[in-house]
Formats: sequence, structure tokens, C-alpha cells
Amino acid sequence: MTHQSAGKSPLAWLGGKKKLADEIIRRMPDDHQAYCEVFAGAAWVLFKKPESKVEIINDINRDLVTLYRCVKHHLEELCKQFKWMLVARDEFDRFLATPAETLTDIQRAARFYYLAKTSFGARISKPTFGIAATGPSRLNLLRIEEDLSEAHLRLSRVYIENRPYDQVIDRFDKPGTLFYLDPPYWGCEDDYGKHLFSRDDFARLAAQLEGLKGRFILSLNDRPEVREVFANFHIDSVRTRYTVSAKSNQEVGEVLITNFKPRLKGL
Ligand SMILES: C[S@@+](CC[C@H](N)C(=O)[O-])C[C@H]1O[C@@H](n2cnc3c(N)ncnc32)[C@H](O)[C@@H]1O
Repeated sequence: MTHQSAGKSPLAWLGGKKKLADEIIRRMPDDHQAYCEVFAGAAWVLFKKPESKVEIINDINRDLVTLYRCVKHHLEELCKQFKWMLVARDEFDRFLATPAETLTDIQRAARFYYLAKTSFGARISKPTFGIAATGPSRLNLLRIEEDLSEAHLRLSRVYIENRPYDQVIDRFDKPGTLFYLDPPYWGCEDDYGKHLFSRDDFARLAAQLEGLKGRFILSLNDRPEVREVFANFHIDSVRTRYTVSAKSNQEVGEVLITNFKPRLKGL
């Protein structure tokens, strides 16, 4: 890994690793060629980690990937979409009622960004307008260009994929590849939409990782079933707090599973 990064993601995301990112990054071996984030979501680890020679992020969510592609390739046009917009329930409802398939990629990215930033708890499967007397909206329309410019620079050399996890692992697996995998938690398989990831996918993923040529770091909630499915790998326990969830701020146990023994770097 070369340049320092320690940036931030433009999104809050259910299961986002804002708080756990440093623990994950300090386990990354320096001598990898390519870094591949298979279940990217808000990609907190990518945005915080130093740059690797080759970087790939992937997610099955087409709206999310369209946003990353537009931030990377069409930043100015994307920012223009927010001119004259307001943070208001009417605007939220209008976006929610507009089918994404009827929009251009730039409109689709703007719709998704608006909904993700203004919905309660960043719940993408059933978004509701988030409003609270305790703080301002997470969408600051006066700072959109500033917020997205940072992401634009970080994404400028990152490949962005939109495929199921198993295809991405197959496609990029080489001895020099380091994968970071952050699938839906055990017990929360449908959190990002139905039929994207099932309980059986944990065993399927474990079997695929058994044959991996590269190295991987996988994060999951600390459950006996998780420890059983991934028993053939090295497992570290870590404590974290969720940033976006009903259980916000409560300390929870997570596991970091690897196919190598990590040498921890200082925080
Ligand atoms: C726990 S979140 C990742 C959070 C991320 N690490 C962050 O910091 O925001 C899991 C992600 O996996 C994606 N996903 C679910 N099923 C998938 C599949 N079969 N293939 C690829 N991605 C999938 C979801 O869309 C979701 O964004």
C-alpha cells in the first residue's frame, strides 16, 4: 500500500464499517498488488485505507454502483441535479415514487444519493424520511460538491463492478490479491433486499474461500454459527459500535476472519 488515504465515505450505510475500518486496515498485509472490496456498500474501508496499486469495489446494488460511477465520471453533472432542491418530505416522496428504471444514470444516482442521505437510519429496503429535532439533515445541499469531490478523487483510479460476490471473487483471485469481504450479517440476510444473499451463501462463500489463491479479510457478527462455518480459518474477536442501526451505540462483538495470521500494525 502506498499513499495515505484516511478519507471518509460520502454515505452512511446499514452495516457500514466506519468504526471498525481501522481494525481491518491494520490487519492488511502491505505486500498485496490488488485490493478488492467484494460487498462494498458505503466502502468505508476503501475510503479510509491507503491506496493499493490496483483497487476494485463491487456491490450487487445497481443504484449504489451507478452513484459511484457518476461520482467518478460525471461529478459536475451530478452536482447540478441538486441545484434548487430542498430537503423536504415532498421531495423525498417524489423521488421514492419515481421508478429508477425510468431515469438516466445521472438522475438515478442523484435520486439514490438524496434518498440515502435523507432516509431514517439509511435503511435502503424500506426508506422513510428522517427528521429529528436533535440535529440537522445529513444532506447538506450547500456542501454537496465539496463532499462528493473528495470521493471523486479517491475513486479516480478504482474499478467499480456490479456483480454477485462469487463472480467477482473468481474474476480477481490471484496470489497478489487481497479481498475484503463484508457480507450481510448472519440473521440479517435480507437487510439489503430479498434474494440477494441467503443463509446458504455463508457456506458457499466459505467453500469458495477455501480454494482462494489470494488472501482475504472477512468481517461478520460474532455468532456460534459463523464460527462453525468459517472454522477452518483464523478468527479474531473485536468489539465495535454500530453507527447506523436501531441498536446504535451499543457495543457488539464482531469477528475478523482471515486465511493468514495478521501482523497487527499500530493504530
Ligand atoms: C454489510 S454491507 C457492506 C458495508 C460496507 N462495508 C460499508 O462500510 O458500508 C453489505 C453489502 O453487500 C451487498 N450485497 C448483498 N448481497 C450481495 C451479493 N450477493 N453480491 C454482492 N454484494 C451483495 C449489499 O448491497 C450491501 O451493500
